[in-house]
Amino acid sequence: MDYRSTVAQGPSLSQLTADALMLVLTGDLSKTADPVLDQLIRDAIVNGDFELKGGRCLYVHRPVGVKAARLVLLVAADASPKAFKAAVVKGLAQIKDLGAAHVAVAGAAGLGLTADHAQSLVLGVSDATYIYRHTKPTAAKPGMLKKMSLVVPQDAASTVKTGLAQGQAVAEGVTLARELGNRPANYCTPTYLASEAKRLAKEFPHIKTEVLDRPALEKLGMGSFLSVTNGSVQPPKFIILRYNGAAASQAPLVLVGKGITFDTGGISLKPGAGMDEMKFDMGGAASVLGTFRAVAELKPKINLIGLVPTCENMPSGASTKPGDVVTSMSGQTIEVLNTDAEGRLILCDALTYAERFKPAAVVNVATLTGACVVALGHVHSGLYCADEPLAQALLNAGMHTQDTAWRMPMDEEYGESLKSNFADMGNVGGREGGANTAAVFLSKFTKAYRWAHLDIAGSAWKSGGAKGGTGRPVGLLTRFILDQAGAGKDAIAPLPAKLVKPVARKTVRRG
Ligand code: BES
Ligand code: MN
Ligand code: ZN
Repeated sequence: MDYRSTVAQGPSLSQLTADALMLVLTGDLSKTADPVLDQLIRDAIVNGDFELKGGRCLYVHRPVGVKAARLVLLVAADASPKAFKAAVVKGLAQIKDLGAAHVAVAGAAGLGLTADHAQSLVLGVSDATYIYRHTKPTAAKPGMLKKMSLVVPQDAASTVKTGLAQGQAVAEGVTLARELGNRPANYCTPTYLASEAKRLAKEFPHIKTEVLDRPALEKLGMGSFLSVTNGSVQPPKFIILRYNGAAASQAPLVLVGKGITFDTGGISLKPGAGMDEMKFDMGGAASVLGTFRAVAELKPKINLIGLVPTCENMPSGASTKPGDVVTSMSGQTIEVLNTDAEGRLILCDALTYAERFKPAAVVNVATLTGACVVALGHVHSGLYCADEPLAQALLNAGMHTQDTAWRMPMDEEYGESLKSNFADMGNVGGREGGANTAAVFLSKFTKAYRWAHLDIAGSAWKSGGAKGGTGRPVGLLTRFILDQAGAGKDAIAPLPAKLVKPVARKTVRRG
């Protein structure tokens, strides 16, 4: 898809050359300053065909006096990027099966389209037009739509253009993450994820990829990670991605992504119903790869490291058994009380490995707990972070990209149930507050740097009729990185230049 910004003022909207014109209004902003369109809107309201209420939509074919052959009137709930995106997606559903190749989108006079509106438009359109075909080549053919232009006044043109470009880069990252998530586990193996990482390095000169195999992981002492792979015939991989956009002396941001390409639960086997969805258990890994793709295109002045421990969690005669004790790379021993709590076992070694980069901050991304899905559903990712500015920066990045996170508590009390008689800690606590306990477990391996953890168990994919990966939280992560690099237009809460070790907080409120 080709995204453009087109400059046009109110009076010329009806004369715009496009196959379809989408007009986004709000309850308060319903005038376009184009007399033809304004009359048409008034008539539609008077005739009872249209109302200035959020969510309303009216398709008009060959409107008299309008150059575009198709017109869609849309009412957004308000003037926010989020509501604008919802309106455009609704309009797209009206015309995506029609013959329009070029769709122009314009807002009511005074709507004030910003870079965030532009980015939201691209992300919305990309999301709505994605089709999974890798193992279903007979899936519906893509529609006729080839080009979208966002119509703005002259003074907004350059901001909007930046927003469109940013949106496009992020959308490509989101699509990559989504596609990797959707690929079945017999296609998307740890070896396959490693080859995808290498492909990124081939395509983008700023990315370098290194892949560690079992002997190297044994040498590093990653006993916890390796204990998860015991039952699988697929070899484990540890993927290291580097993006160098700043001086080598600048401390990097590190992203760590859980890459379980299939989670059966191991000997603590999961029930059969819905187990297919555990192919999405590499959503964290996919979002790290997707974010690297977006970043490689946007080229912010920052250094970035991606760490992806990836393997399968399978039952077999060689599998780790409940009660087995493993030694993590940090030296801390772990009693594996439940082999289905495997995410934290692979992540803890990656988090210890992250220390060698002397990171400015580390962000861990994982489909970690069913408890997080119970708590937050599929709306927000769970954010665990005892470092106030880091937490605020991540929350803000999510708000600006409609890829939101919700602050969750990480008090030490949640870790009390991790005590073990046979090791430094167990890998599970009780059922209650399970997402918080998992976060406290990870925190035991992150004392050397500023750290945040996103539990994306609910946000990384959808179940039911719309079953499929979402590509989240590529939007949040990319925005966070751009903000930290100062490349984002709305850098909100940059981390202080002098990084102070966070003071552990007793109680954590949502910010
Ligand atoms: N991958 C799952 C978490 C998960 C469950 C994600 C459901 C999305 C939907 C993780 O490895 C897991 O199995 N967690 C266990 C932990 C428990 C044994 C402490 C869980 O949440 O049940
Ligand atoms: Mn599991
Ligand atoms: Zn898992």
